[in-house]
Amino acid sequence: MPNAFISGTGFYVPPRVVTNDDLKTQYGIDTSHEWIVQRTGIQERRFAEDGVGTSDLALPASRAAIQAAGLEPRDLDMIILATLSPDCCFPGSGIYLQRKLGLCDGPKARFVPALDVRNQCSGFLYSLGAATSMVKSGACKHVLVVGAETHSAALDLSTRGRAVASLFGDGAGAVVVSATEEDRGVRSWHLGADGRYTEVLAQKVWDVSKRPFIPVDDKGVGQVQPELMWAQMDGKVVFKNAVERMIGALMELCMANNVTGTDIDLFVFHQANLRINEYIADHVGIPKEKLVSNIQRYGNTTAATIPILLAEAEQSGRLKRGMKVAMVAFGSGFTWGSALVDW
Ligand code: ACO
Repeated sequence: MPNAFISGTGFYVPPRVVTNDDLKTQYGIDTSHEWIVQRTGIQERRFAEDGVGTSDLALPASRAAIQAAGLEPRDLDMIILATLSPDCCFPGSGIYLQRKLGLCDGPKARFVPALDVRNQCSGFLYSLGAATSMVKSGACKHVLVVGAETHSAALDLSTRGRAVASLFGDGAGAVVVSATEEDRGVRSWHLGADGRYTEVLAQKVWDVSKRPFIPVDDKGVGQVQPELMWAQMDGKVVFKNAVERMIGALMELCMANNVTGTDIDLFVFHQANLRINEYIADHVGIPKEKLVSNIQRYGNTTAATIPILLAEAEQSGRLKRGMKVAMVAFGSGFTWGSALVDW
């Protein structure tokens, strides 16, 4: 059975920077830089322009990862794209990405499977687990795994929505998971979900139990109440569960691989809130220099946080061949996951 290793990484964030002060001055939100920084660590985030969707952000991140792996898009055997903000309700964003990568063009077209994963902030690790299994089973040699989000289109950028809107940003990160006979790669992955908390962090705009699923006026024009239109969150419940589940997922990873924190060179945690990650690091004794973060610059980019961190760490030289990397995520659902990779 081959091993599955990460052969290339890439990321893309849209150029438009939105600072905490911009939330006040441009959007009129009653907030402050101090409030946001103190509770979350976020200083600024990126917002895509009108007309730019999730597969558009995923495209340059994917191209960079494919190039870093020394491959062409046609070398891919499968695409897995994790997002909670797909281009549209259906078809999936992975299919749009397949077309935008040029896989459907010309006589050498490759109509490879394209799968969307809907596991929010844990989506990248769910996708990494699926890609690893595909590669180890021999079904695929190269799987593109992307986390991409265009949150800015679906944030309630008003004082009413400030508790959620100040947290999120747009961006995409990608990796290629490839087969190798070398003794390296994804050693184990661990995933979990707790459906008792589906209401705690959710966006209910698409409720197919309702007929029609969006209320319509007498002209058939849909109208959605703000509490259904925008994501709702009980932040304190999320915080408490994130800490517990992320520590649990990290412990599971350590036990499965018979390693301790000192054996791990780099901790790549989902970027929900700097305070969550600092609390976990303090609690389990992770030195700050082993923890990477970018929430200060990008906010929470949900499925994209971990692959963006990996790409940035590789580009800066902080992540090198031979390092032992622990990834941990937690998100809406609740869902969570961890993975250990020998880079
Ligand atoms: N600016 C100013 N005031 C704000 C803002 C803001 N951006 N957001 C909320 N407030 C106000 C609230 O309206 C409330 O005012 P009130 O007392 O007059 O009603 C007050 O601040 C306190 O609100 P809380 O929600 O109780 O604030 P809390 O101290 O819990 O902090 C926070 C909120 C930062 C979201 C915190 O709960 C948290 O970090 N939770 C973790 C959730 C998280 O990180 N989610 C990210 C997405 S999920 C994921 O990726 C895993």
